[in-house]
Amino acid sequence: MRTARLTLHPAFTVGRVSPRLFGSFVEHLGRCVYTGIFEPGHPTADAAGLRRDVLALVRELGVTAVRYPGGNFVSGYRWEDSVGPVENRPRRLDLAWRSTETNRFGLAEYIRFVRELGPGAEPMMALNLGTRGVAEALQLQEYANHPGGTALSGLRAAHGDKDPYRIRLWCLGNEMDGPWQTGHKTAAEYGRLAAETARAMRQFDPGVELVACGSSGRSMPTFAEWEATVLAETYDLVDYISLHAYYEPLDGDVGSFLASASDMESFIEGVVATCDHIGARLKSRKRINLSFDEWNVWYMSRWQQQTATPAPEEWPEAPPLLEDTYSVTDAVVVGSLLIALLRHADRVTIACLAQLVNVIAPIRTEPGGPAWRQTTFFPFAQASRHGRGEVLDVRVDSPVYDTARYGETDLLYATAVRADDGTVTVFAVNRSRTEPLPVEATLGGLGLTTVVEHSALADADPDACNTRDDPERVAPHQVHGTSVSGGRLTAELEPLSWNVIRLA
Ligand code: AHR
Repeated sequence: MRTARLTLHPAFTVGRVSPRLFGSFVEHLGRCVYTGIFEPGHPTADAAGLRRDVLALVRELGVTAVRYPGGNFVSGYRWEDSVGPVENRPRRLDLAWRSTETNRFGLAEYIRFVRELGPGAEPMMALNLGTRGVAEALQLQEYANHPGGTALSGLRAAHGDKDPYRIRLWCLGNEMDGPWQTGHKTAAEYGRLAAETARAMRQFDPGVELVACGSSGRSMPTFAEWEATVLAETYDLVDYISLHAYYEPLDGDVGSFLASASDMESFIEGVVATCDHIGARLKSRKRINLSFDEWNVWYMSRWQQQTATPAPEEWPEAPPLLEDTYSVTDAVVVGSLLIALLRHADRVTIACLAQLVNVIAPIRTEPGGPAWRQTTFFPFAQASRHGRGEVLDVRVDSPVYDTARYGETDLLYATAVRADDGTVTVFAVNRSRTEPLPVEATLGGLGLTTVVEHSALADADPDACNTRDDPERVAPHQVHGTSVSGGRLTAELEPLSWNVIRLA
């Protein structure tokens, strides 16, 4: 195999990594909340019903912004059902996931969960702009954030939370371009509603940060036109536009699946171009940033095939839905998607791995039983831990392979982040399923002399995964033989591997 080459130089950078790039997502969907993060009566549950075993794993994962409560769920969400004494909270039909929502876990419990994660975590609250509008958004904002002395802030205090929740980051709806969304709208309808909601929320607090809905996927027929129309209405009123993308091997095409980051990069670049086009049209100096607030591997077609039409009377509580079990191959793809986000850290300043627990998630749980790390847990945790600082504009010269969807694609996919203490972490994926990939990197001017560690996630069995009965089957291992000499890094990447090479 020809050697792949990387060039790193401290003078050439992409931008600073926003901590919010390592966000996640908790939706009232399946068992993400109930028997996921929240299970009163579980042996590890705290007084509030939060599972301490899950909290420990979420902290280890290094999650920052936590988007909530949906997702498709939010488009039927009545925030006032989710506050106050639990025994008074109504049971409601959740049309999005055809479930019964008990509201035992609500706004206060969510804020408590985020606070339990520590100072690095913050709430990211989505508003219902499907079946509701400006008035309800303002009421929720006042209930959550007003210090006191009004009916709604007084209600929060009466519910036990005197101090405001200080939610700064809000999503103006979810996937409003999708016909599956309750209250789906045209771009013009949504753009007006988002603008009016944003304007009103800024009257309450000019410092809020607002995310307008972009397309729910790059393949949507309205993609780009949707963003242009929405931003023409909202450009001066919002800070971010959202992107959502899920990947899976279609028709067994693993080669293309491994190149999913190519699609993610094109998606990001298309949205950046559209934002800047509207900015230019408006002669605005303002820059809209990107909130990639749903991304992951999701075996969606498998789920669609399995889903039988439910009987009319079937509205289960927290049924097991979308509980994908992830393999080594999936972890390598998740790692490459993290690399794509880092490579665009100048414009992607929020990203949320969808979702956090059980539902297409890096953490799985059993009701009343254990919690464990999926394979995809590891690349996220390592990127969150070591991917803080300045992203270097790494140049890659790699042997290629052919893919059906994206044509010739580099076997090596990589980026590097320089921390404030001068240490550098190279994140790299070898997409070859059969061959190790020799890599050489020139480290000009970075003053790096030592390999702190080379960790890799790879396995003789690309389908290997962690399960309840074998929760530690897959984990990163140390690679020996990686060296730095004379400003040059030499490494060999195992076939189908995610690699973290830390240099000092
Ligand atoms: O994350 C699962 C679902 O995917 C979300 O509810 C929705 O926003 C998206 O279509």
